[in-house]
Amino acid sequence: MWLIGMMGSGKSTVGALAAQRLGLDFYDTDQMVCDRAGLSIPEIWQTHGEKRFRELEGEAVTSVPPGTVAAAGGGTVLDPANREIIASSPPVVWLRTRPETMAARVGNAGDRPLLDAPGDASDRLERILAERATLYLRLATHVVDTDELTAEQVTAEVVSICQS
Ligand code: S3P
Repeated sequence: MWLIGMMGSGKSTVGALAAQRLGLDFYDTDQMVCDRAGLSIPEIWQTHGEKRFRELEGEAVTSVPPGTVAAAGGGTVLDPANREIIASSPPVVWLRTRPETMAARVGNAGDRPLLDAPGDASDRLERILAERATLYLRLATHVVDTDELTAEQVTAEVVSICQS
């Protein structure tokens, strides 16, 4: 199963908890890219550029084994090849989150190159979401609105989706 959605939607936290509950392995494409490169995401972005980051991200998506819980970095859905791989391992759950909620959750934007610029993080997140919302919606087999829920509650929903 895959968790998709924007930065700050809770994919990594919920994915790890859900995997534990379900007794499955957990994969996080951001973590896989960093392990592979031996660099943090901002370092990869600075040294090699976004294009290289997206290539490594595509390799990470390809190497996630079936029958696991996986969190897809927010931008994975931009690549049709990634979308095809994700769609082939349902359920695909979109953790849908409002920009203000994401902005409050991401805190240190220094970890996220797309937000590391002057101006309001919430506005940037809103613009990025507008570009991607249709892709998330089309790819998702299920949508969980996370704004009013704790990580525990989102996890319970995800576990129940996987068991249904
Ligand atoms: C990105 C989301 C980040 C990370 C990178 C780019 C994006 O992952 O892959 O900073 O394009 O939305 P998270 O969604 O796990 O924060």
